[in-house]
Amino acid sequence: MSDFSVEWLALRESADARSRDARLLHNALSFLQNQKSMISALTIADLGAGTGSTMRMFSSLNNKFAEELWWRLIDSDATLLAEAKRRHKDLKQVQYFKLDLNELVKLPLNNTQLITASALFDLVSAEFIDAFADMMKTLSEKSSVGFYSSLNYDGAITWEPSHPLDETVLYAFNEDQRRDKGFGLALGPDANAYLREKLENSGFEVSGAPSPWQLDNADENLVLELISGIANALTSSSKFDRAALAEWVAYRKAHVKSGSCSVGHQDILALPENIHAI
Ligand SMILES: C[S@@+](CC[C@H](N)C(=O)[O-])C[C@H]1O[C@@H](n2cnc3c(N)ncnc32)[C@H](O)[C@@H]1O
Repeated sequence: MSDFSVEWLALRESADARSRDARLLHNALSFLQNQKSMISALTIADLGAGTGSTMRMFSSLNNKFAEELWWRLIDSDATLLAEAKRRHKDLKQVQYFKLDLNELVKLPLNNTQLITASALFDLVSAEFIDAFADMMKTLSEKSSVGFYSSLNYDGAITWEPSHPLDETVLYAFNEDQRRDKGFGLALGPDANAYLREKLENSGFEVSGAPSPWQLDNADENLVLELISGIANALTSSSKFDRAALAEWVAYRKAHVKSGSCSVGHQDILALPENIHAI
């Protein structure tokens, strides 16, 4: 299963949905609701939208209000956008854009009230975040715009029961997370803190909250894929001892039903500075 396949995104969607910080989501929605009297078509642009998981999350919070929102789903992957379109063919207020996020100036972000990105910013580089934060500043000088970024991997994975190699595996996996994922060398686990700092420097009031996956036997397939994903990353990109890795994988798979696992993520909500707690 590839990193961004329809199957992988479907597999993680329910864990993502229950992990997103509820307060930040609520505040993002309230921020939009407060603008309702001034703007007829409240618009959200979702960066790296995949099959539309973030849009579905917002709809599940307040279906009535969500019906009034316009969405611009932006992704470079035509297959994922086609799947989003297939699933939401009855929604007239969704637009689909096949674009590379690296070309920030070409993104359809004008006249949006909220920009969202889920499970995306740990893939990007410091240079991308610098340019993105500058762009958010420019956009906010024209009109009020917020930014919600969720499920940014933060480098913390813990397992129950533990295994002597957990720490070494995690270290090597986190190193792999810093590979170039199409945006220059990725910040991986450090992306969230960097993003937060840059948005604050751009004049936003930023709140953050952890959003870890808490997985157990109910998430068996997701955990199995996670173990395979970690093993693949280590096999392809590090000098990790193959036999030791195989032993770790076998142990982890043997404990999928009886054990548990936590995968650290962080959420951020950045709002214009003059908008106070909602
Ligand atoms: C981990 S997935 C998250 C998808 C979705 N936000 C979700 O939460 O299910 C990362 C997404 O970023 C998209 N992506 C990666 N690099 C991109 C780029 N350079 N331009 C546009 N989209 C990109 C991928 O195609 C994928 O849909």
